[in-house]
Amino acid sequence: MEFRKLQDLDLTNKKVLVRLDLNVPIKKGKITDDTRITAALPTLRYILERTNKIALMSHLGRPDGEVMPEYSLEPVGVRLAELLGLEVVFVRDYTEEPAEQVLNQLNKNQIILFENLRFHPGETKNDPEFARKLANGFDCYVNDAFGTLHRAHASVVAAAELFPGERRAAGLLVDREISVLSGLQKKPQAPFTVVMGGSKVSDKIGVVLNLLNHANYLLIGGAMAYTFLKYQGVDVGDSRVEHDKMDLVASIYRNAEARKVEIILPEDHVAAAKFDADAEAVEIPGRTIHKGLMGLDIGPRTIKRYSDIIGLSKTVLWNGPMGVFEFDKFARGSLRVADAMARSSAFTVIGGGDSVAAANKAGVADKIDHISTGGGASLEFLEGQTLPGVKVLLKQ
Ligand code: 3PG
Repeated sequence: MEFRKLQDLDLTNKKVLVRLDLNVPIKKGKITDDTRITAALPTLRYILERTNKIALMSHLGRPDGEVMPEYSLEPVGVRLAELLGLEVVFVRDYTEEPAEQVLNQLNKNQIILFENLRFHPGETKNDPEFARKLANGFDCYVNDAFGTLHRAHASVVAAAELFPGERRAAGLLVDREISVLSGLQKKPQAPFTVVMGGSKVSDKIGVVLNLLNHANYLLIGGAMAYTFLKYQGVDVGDSRVEHDKMDLVASIYRNAEARKVEIILPEDHVAAAKFDADAEAVEIPGRTIHKGLMGLDIGPRTIKRYSDIIGLSKTVLWNGPMGVFEFDKFARGSLRVADAMARSSAFTVIGGGDSVAAANKAGVADKIDHISTGGGASLEFLEGQTLPGVKVLLKQ
């Protein structure tokens, strides 16, 4: 996959429109995790060494084409200004006043941030008219919004298409994400272990089937594991089971057998009588969970086995929590898997919000080789799809 990179562009004194994924969690006006903002800094610094005439654009949340103050990007602008040591000029009416006029008035210490793109219905509709308003007056387009590349939205696709091929490119974050995630689908060093968790088999089926081409071990956790166990004829009590997804599990087993991939399921559990943060945590020493209890985390023997396999691997990808990570009593499995990855000498990759949060909570994020900033985007990429935001940046 050959796409245009930042280094391919001549940016000197150019006016540059930059799409970022600044969709960060904000509570009561305060950013609670600025990972996506800091992830954009290398690209911004690279561009700023060549020009200060830049406008940044992003979405935040899903305001569905309406102006909703709680989804304003203003707090993000404040954080960006702190991190870059520049003044961020926040522009609300970028579809009215041509950006060029604002760009021409910028001094050397100022850059522009547009208000939330999704306040305009044209953004999610990939509307060419809205895209024209965004691109008006700019010389070059850079997309570093990895987490948004799976969305065929105006700022991702239609706006990019308005620039000649040699004037649009991917930023450094997109470049790194694609190189790491493509590497897992090409020739990952063996043993390659995929640790999959989360609640729904259907969410992960595409990724699992694609990765079975190269994986040696598939370790299953989270609620997904109870559907797998049920398929194997194990009684899982009141645990969450997707009864209508047994055909998907069957196809995973068929593919795994054909490719000699070992699927490993939990051997023990931590369960509770109800789905509640304060519910009593009951250790279940075997696979079977009796009626009246539901599995909410993997147990200590499973943690040990999964950690040992991670320890002997050369490449590990983890996506999706091992239990109900948001409840402290049922977070242990996810925290221990994060620990095992941090201790392993393997090349380690984590994708998906909850597993990333587990690595952060375990205090080991800096010991993981790559933490993907994409949720849906990394999953679709790992399914082997060409994402719309990548397609428009491909070299012809
Ligand atoms: C994400 O958080 O995964 C990206 O910012 C994309 O957001 P979306 O799912 O609302 O398009």
